[in-house]
Amino acid sequence: MAIRPVDPAQPNTFRTAIAAAARELASGALVAFPTETVYGLGADATNGEALARLFEAKGRPRINPLIVHVESVKAARKLVIFNPVAVKLAEAFWPGPLTLVLPKSAKCPVHDLASAGLATLGVRVPAHPVAQALILSAGVPIAAPSANASGEPSPTRAAHVAESLGDGITVLDAGPCNAGLESTVIGFDGHVPVLLRLGATPRDEIEAVVGPLREASDDAARPSSPGRLLRHYAPRARLRINAVAPERGELFIAFGPTDVEGALQLSEAGSTREAAMNLFALLREADKRGATAIAVAPVPDHGLGEAVNDRLRRAAAAQG
Ligand code: TXA
Ligand code: MG
Repeated sequence: MAIRPVDPAQPNTFRTAIAAAARELASGALVAFPTETVYGLGADATNGEALARLFEAKGRPRINPLIVHVESVKAARKLVIFNPVAVKLAEAFWPGPLTLVLPKSAKCPVHDLASAGLATLGVRVPAHPVAQALILSAGVPIAAPSANASGEPSPTRAAHVAESLGDGITVLDAGPCNAGLESTVIGFDGHVPVLLRLGATPRDEIEAVVGPLREASDDAARPSSPGRLLRHYAPRARLRINAVAPERGELFIAFGPTDVEGALQLSEAGSTREAAMNLFALLREADKRGATAIAVAPVPDHGLGEAVNDRLRRAAAAQG
């Protein structure tokens, strides 16, 4: 069975399951696991063959670097060189849904494939107990992109991983992810923090710690983050955003109370946090229902709403 339930509340079976998965990672196999953001597809970040397998499994362009997951700030310091602003961010938000893109250290053991040959590396310390236990047990940094075929919405449940990548992939199943959106990605221009990807740590919380974030450039000649330029998050159905009401033939995804019959719901209560948690699962649900067109209600741009709208815009644009 490729989907393996894991429950941190059952210490004995939990330890055994994590140790087995860690051995598989160490032998070069891929293991999907939950984080607080989305499910990741893990590989030993120091093993070039495992990383090549990972790019292949996702159909991911090799120019798109991976995020490397470690258990602590101390472990991150072995991989990358921190600046003072990055230290503040790590102290404020790790463990948690924030990725920092920093220069690789001289002795960084991570294979070049993970960083797509760049001089920088994306690192993050996840908060999820399964992710933490797996990293510690594996004893190596774990490279993990979202565990979906490249271009699709990220998986927020174990079943999504199997739907997207086939049931040949081992998935540690600890239920739905809390945040539902990927980590916020911050790079640096000198010491100035640059927002490379909106995500599960809201902009205002980050700016409260380090001041205003610089916007990344989407100049194709100088991409600040390769992932920004790629097709992303798209369901099979056509997607229309900021829709006050559905048109004929459209499946409606509401935000707040609605009279539309058969509508899916981002958040009945109008919570942007709940909308973030539900977004990708609803896009997948719309596909499962065979919808050819989806209309999504306007979502307010505050809190996690900004990241939800970012994903919706990219999903809508992906289909032209
Ligand atoms: O929440 C998350 O971040 C999840 C979980 C599994 O941790 N992972 C995830 O990974 O979303 P992925 O590969 O789907 O997205 C990583 C993003 C991409 O847009 C990539 O281009 C960017 O981070 N990135 C990674 N390393 C980078 C680097 N060295 N420079 C610029 N961008 C980088
Ligand atoms: Mg992804």
